[in-house]
Amino acid sequence: MDVWIGPGRRLRGEARVPGDKSIAHRALILAALGEGESEIRGFDLLDDPLRTLEALRACGTPVEMAAPGMLRVVGRGPRGLGAPTGVLHCGLSGTTMRLLAGVLAGQPLAATLDGDPALRRRPMDRVVEPLRRMGARIEAADAASHAPLTIRGGGLRGIEYTLPVPSAQVKSAILLAGLNAEGETVVREPVPSRDHTERMLRWLGVSVEAANGAIRLAGGARWSGRTFVLPGDLSAAAFFLVAASLVPGSEVFIGAVGLNPTRSAVLEVLRHMGADVMAMPTPSGGDADGPEPTADLVVRSAALRAITLQGALIPNLIDELPVLAVAATQAEGVTVVRDAAELRVKESDRIAAVVQELGAMGARIQATTDGFIVEGPTPLRGATVDAHGDHRMAMALAVAGLVARGDTVIRGAETVTKSFPRFFAALRALGAEVA
Ligand code: S3P
Repeated sequence: MDVWIGPGRRLRGEARVPGDKSIAHRALILAALGEGESEIRGFDLLDDPLRTLEALRACGTPVEMAAPGMLRVVGRGPRGLGAPTGVLHCGLSGTTMRLLAGVLAGQPLAATLDGDPALRRRPMDRVVEPLRRMGARIEAADAASHAPLTIRGGGLRGIEYTLPVPSAQVKSAILLAGLNAEGETVVREPVPSRDHTERMLRWLGVSVEAANGAIRLAGGARWSGRTFVLPGDLSAAAFFLVAASLVPGSEVFIGAVGLNPTRSAVLEVLRHMGADVMAMPTPSGGDADGPEPTADLVVRSAALRAITLQGALIPNLIDELPVLAVAATQAEGVTVVRDAAELRVKESDRIAAVVQELGAMGARIQATTDGFIVEGPTPLRGATVDAHGDHRMAMALAVAGLVARGDTVIRGAETVTKSFPRFFAALRALGAEVA
């Protein structure tokens, strides 16, 4: 699908973002492994969490849509999944494949996880290796452990494992396996990654200790079903934060967005760049609201300046780097992103994709092995650009289109269904020219 974006009409009004994609996967999994009925509210029909939902259903978990945005899940305990009748299709969802690999490793059954060709190319050795150490038997397509993965689980023992790359997916896969392992599981992360899994487990009553970069969990916990309320997805909101910052005369409100400190660096970074973003914490109803802090955001246009992004900050804003690259094209000075080689193994090689497509629009941007360098401000010109099968590229390029002179056409824009099916409609509702 091609989407056409016209140059910058000011953006005004309220943007609704979907329920958080990362947290949706975890809520589904921990509801399925809990005991009894859970509700998940704020669940939007995003391709990726729907893959997790379908896989859990295929393993015998009853899941029904009780009302729009509200799921009812009946959990049968931490070892309560059944053997699936067929292959579990993860589509393009790396989170589904990696988190479920951890879950299935702890179940005494055999299951196969597969995905679309682009997912088969993404690295799975990072989960296969520690799960094998815990005792899971896993067959992969090749020696590098690419999908499809056939997992024969059960009989796990806890391990101590230091993450070679900062990855919340790998950390979560090991912790989820650890729930069904003998003894203690310890994951050490040299650089902190998003802690949604740990928070949710604690909120469910499972003891998870985190100190000095080590996360500890004892096997054998059980918990009851609860009502999970998903916050708005900050990674989706980030496209509006940048768009409204860049298009003069804009003012956009986004309600109840998740501001988990391991995930919200994009706010401080944008403010450091000069953005006018206000966050008003949403009143808390206490524990019943769930384990994640939320806030209403208001963003108004502002002049931006360049920034250097590196080190421990990178995992905290890894998903926002494509749209921050767009911000950098309009910021005064040289923006440098380094220590972000993980971008090369996301839904696309985001370093190559961002440099190629923003370059085609006239940006002065250059790739490095582990990031990119952008000289700004540069006037962008409309062009025909490609989403590279990557939802965050499609949305970042739409934001670039809003500040470009002339028309922009995004090829392969349908990929936004992965995390934000109504993205283009939401942009149009704010006043943008989108067709
Ligand atoms: C995610 C973790 C990050 C992130 C992805 C979602 C998660 O990936 O990029 O969009 O839900 O745990 P990595 O764990 O590979 O860093």
